[in-house]
Amino acid sequence: MPRSPQENEALFDRRAATYDEDVRRPTGVLVGYEVSLYQAAAMILLAAGSEVLDVGIGTGAFARPLAADAARVSGVDVSAEMLARCRADHPSFALGMGSFLQIPHADRHFDALVSSFAFHEVPPAERPRACAESARVIRRGGRIWLLDIVFASSASLAEASEELHEQWDPDEIYPLVGEMDAALRTAGFSQLRWQQTAPYHWAVTGRRVT
Ligand SMILES: C[S@@+](CC[C@H](N)C(=O)[O-])C[C@H]1O[C@@H](n2cnc3c(N)ncnc32)[C@H](O)[C@@H]1O
Repeated sequence: MPRSPQENEALFDRRAATYDEDVRRPTGVLVGYEVSLYQAAAMILLAAGSEVLDVGIGTGAFARPLAADAARVSGVDVSAEMLARCRADHPSFALGMGSFLQIPHADRHFDALVSSFAFHEVPPAERPRACAESARVIRRGGRIWLLDIVFASSASLAEASEELHEQWDPDEIYPLVGEMDAALRTAGFSQLRWQQTAPYHWAVTGRRVT
């Protein structure tokens, strides 16, 4: 059963103090965390002066390398404690509470939306709405880059749950490439390009065309 938004907020508030340490020694589905961040960040091409939003920014690991090109990096998260950590390390970021389902910014405000390891926190039934909410805040022609724990098929997901065995969290319901691809296209993204970055991680980029 997926966690409720309140359970997610409480979980990441508790994890915030040790999060950066923990992901330096990733286990289970997070194995390859740093390589994935590096590879996904290498896919990102920002025009100088872009307005960028990181959804589920956490402590700011994915947004950090984007700050050199962006005019401004904004970030939203459901956890006040993760945001406090991010604010301490990245005082120039414009941070606030928000989620994939409620992004507190105007329509078409951003040139690019990025996110790492946060989309899977959205309950499956709400994922199409999360894609639509993401599209809402990106200008026409703007881009999305998502990196997450995603599986190519139900069979590869089932294999991973066996491989990882006791490290597999039955409360997490990870997206499949095909489902996410369809939801992003329905929300108005096209030119979708997928790249596997680690055994359990995929990154996708797309352009908002409508
Ligand atoms: C595994 S952490 C990833 C943090 C960071 N992006 C990174 O790559 O290190 C997941 C983050 O997503 C946030 N989160 C949980 N549910 C969310 C939702 N529905 N929308 C946006 N962010 C969410 C959590 O508070 C947490 O900061």
